[in-house]
Parts: sequence; structure tokens; C-alpha cells
Amino acid sequence: MDHLTIKPFPKDFLWGAATAAYQVEGAYLEDGKGLSVQDSKNHSTRFHDTSVTSDHYHRFEEDVALMKELGLTSYRLSISWTRIYPDGKNLNPQGIEFYRKLFATLLRHNIKPLVTLYHFDHPQALQDAYHGWYGEQMIDDFTTFARTCFKEFGDYVEYFMTICESNNVVLYPDLIGGVPAGIETEQWRFQVSRVMALANAQVIKCCREILPSAKIGPCIGYAIAYPATCDPKDVMAALNEDEFRTFYPLDLICLGRQNPTVVNYFAERGRDIRLTAEELELIKTAQPDFIAFNYYQSDVAKYCPENTVETQPEFNLEGKKGGYVYPQFPGLYAGSSNPYLERSDWDWEIDPIGLRLAFRKLYDRYQLPLMVTENGLGAYDYFENGQIKDDYRINYLQQHIMQMQLSISDGVQVLGYYPWSFMDLMSTSNGYNKRYGFVYVDRDDNDLKTLNRYKKESFYWYQKVVKSNGQYLQQPNKQELA
Ligand code: BG6
Repeated sequence: MDHLTIKPFPKDFLWGAATAAYQVEGAYLEDGKGLSVQDSKNHSTRFHDTSVTSDHYHRFEEDVALMKELGLTSYRLSISWTRIYPDGKNLNPQGIEFYRKLFATLLRHNIKPLVTLYHFDHPQALQDAYHGWYGEQMIDDFTTFARTCFKEFGDYVEYFMTICESNNVVLYPDLIGGVPAGIETEQWRFQVSRVMALANAQVIKCCREILPSAKIGPCIGYAIAYPATCDPKDVMAALNEDEFRTFYPLDLICLGRQNPTVVNYFAERGRDIRLTAEELELIKTAQPDFIAFNYYQSDVAKYCPENTVETQPEFNLEGKKGGYVYPQFPGLYAGSSNPYLERSDWDWEIDPIGLRLAFRKLYDRYQLPLMVTENGLGAYDYFENGQIKDDYRINYLQQHIMQMQLSISDGVQVLGYYPWSFMDLMSTSNGYNKRYGFVYVDRDDNDLKTLNRYKKESFYWYQKVVKSNGQYLQQPNKQELA
């Protein structure tokens, strides 16, 4: 739909940027912090580890000053569970102290924190005790952690997010500690999905009790699915992907209902995934204030007959186009590439219009305010003569922000936008080779170098976007976009 007039961004729009604790903080064993599943995992990969990352723990004052200079009105960060509860059970006051200092510094600069309670980094001790999110005990342990955050940080924080991308972590189990030996992947997926939905509800209830005026919501990763062709079988495959990957978990969390197609699919294959009436009731009484979603790319789905060999998706670890392994889920859908779109060196397909489609689909289905809590381009950046010319990133962000403005013009209520990432950080699957930040961090995977911060071209560009409340987008400087 074309618009005759484009609506401006709301006056109180949250112009943000995002990070996550284990990807920026470093100091992984300092001041009483315990080991998280991320700390354990990364020591055995070839890319990186969590020990230093971007050293934000020691340099947060300098980093917040840069946020201020960038003009951010909000900053999305996550709280490291193992700073607060090193072993998942015993409180560590030094962890509380760190976040209080960070929040106070942000507020001094008029930057509102948006806090993710869980971003992939639960205590290794809870993984060892009961397989982390596979165990029911996680609901109480996560609620205890969240309650402490509400009590200790409620004076500083108005916006909370519960669990980051509960729908994606079940697709990529290694992101959160992996599937325990002897357990089937599908069994693990549905148990984790269920436990996360219940934990999400319990935490929202707890937030309502302790901080009745705070706003809280879930966060999902949404890659909308296009049919590979207009063959109705492919159209069905795309619907399958949307329903199984995104709408099933979100319907559960936001509407307290289980998608019947998904329930039946598993029932036919001998798995009963129905929640009890009490569980659904709990969820219904703990509804979110908004939905946060992370959007990087769209997907393509094609028909995948039942007799196909199942394959799981695999990240492109090499940073050369063509390395991503598309999944095949027999009877549901198979992934495929999109010939109409450019892609990053890691095969993430760049699709600004897909963002508008995502807004429309989510808003129509749930009618809750939305915010984009991650969006950005992972790329090789080159630090030359003290400068980082990342016009490709400016281009990506500009196109996406313009589509967001069209979504606002469509009538969607959009609360805020948080590009990933504020500064360079340890990519989940690609270390420091693949960078996203407005601020360059001088290090690479094998050498910590100076860890000094440098502003990229995109920093100055986003500064103008924020300062003009998005109006600058309507007069793009051609040179910057060349
Ligand atoms: C999101 C995660 O799904 O993708 C982030 O929430 C992650 O933690 C981001 O960094 C980008 O992925 P990657 O693999 O490029 O770091």
C-alpha cells in the first residue's frame, strides 16, 4: 500500500541501540560472577571467548558517554544472571552494585534502560543440575532472579523484556547449552518452549506485583517466511514456517492458546504437546504490555515432503557467501535462498520491506505495541587512517528505518527501535570478524589490541537520525549513501 503522507515518528519514540551482557561485558569471573553456559561454551570454539569481549564492564562510563554523544534516548542491555546469582542460587551483592552504577550513569545522561532479563546466559550450575531450560525448576530459579532484578533495579528501569528469542533458541539448541545426551531434539524443543512460556508468565506476574507501573514483554526473533513460488504447496510451507517458528510460541505467550495445527502435527507423530488448563490459565493472566522483536532478514520456505531426510539449520561460520545450511523439516517446509535479495557475507538476506511485513503481521495478530529490539548488518569493517567507512551499514539501517516509518503510517504502534549493536561485540556465531556496532572496538579474535573505541561513519549518521527524530531520513545525504 502506498501512502499519500508519511507519518512522523512519535515525539516520545525510543531511539536506542542494543547489546547483551556476555557479548560486551567481559570480566567473566570478576567480582563474584559465576560461569554461565556462554562462558563454558566459548572456551572451546575457535572464534572467541567471553573473558574480555569489549571490556564494557571496566569501560562502561566511557561507553555511556558515547551513547550520550550518539543521542540515544534508550539503551537495551541484558543483565548477566551469573553476576547476580553466580551459581543460580546464592545472591552476589557485587553484581547488583555493578548494574546500579550502570543504570545511574545512563539515567544521569537521560538514557532509559530497556532491560533483557535473559539473553542466552543462564548459570552453568543450573545446566549441570537439571539441563537448564529443559528442567521445570528453571521456572522458579528464573523467577527468583527476575524478582531480585525488579526489587533492586525497579527505581531505574521502566521497560523490561523477559527472554530473548525464545523461538530461535529452540531452533539452534547450541545457543543455550545444547540438547542433553539421550534426549530427542524435538522433545527438547517443545519442553524448552513450554518451560520458557511458563517462566515468561510467572515473571510477568511477579513484575506486576513488585513494579505495577513498569512495562514488560517478550522478545522474539522474526524472519518472516515467503513461499518459494506461488505453487500452493510452497505457500503452505511458508505458513507452516510462520506458524511453527513464530506464531506458535507468540500465540502461547500473548494469547494463552496453542496453535491447533502444531498440536496436531506432533500428536500424529506420537508427541502430546498440550499444556494443562491450569498452565494456560496462568499464561492468560500474565499478558505482556508490548512485543519486542528482532529482525535481520526474511526466509524462504518451499514444500518439503514427508519422506525427505531431515536436516537442521547451520550457521555460516566462514563469512563467505554460500556457507549457510538450510533446514529441511519433512512434512513442514525446507529453507531456500531468495533470488530477489542481496545477502551479507554470512548469507543473511537483506530485506527492508520484510520488516514492514513483519510489523503488519504481528500488529494485526496481537494488537500490542511493538518495538524492534535488534536490527543491523553484520559485516567486515576496516579500520583505516583512524576511520571506519561503513556506508553499507548506513544503507541497511536507512532502508529499514524508512520501512518502519511506513509501518507507523500503516497505523502500527511502534514504541522504539534498537539497532544491533551499539558497539562492536562478540558475535554469537562469528566472533569479532563480523561486526555490527556504531562504535568500533579495536580488537580481533586473536589479539586484544588496545580495546579503544572509535566512532564509525554510521555513528555520525545515526546521530543525525536521532537528533531529527527521523526527519533526516527524508533528506538523505547522497554522499553518505553512495
Ligand atoms: C540475535 C541475538 O539473534 O542475533 C544476538 O539476539 C546476536 O545475541 C545477533 O548477536 C546476531 O547474530 P550473530 O550470530 O551475527 O552474532
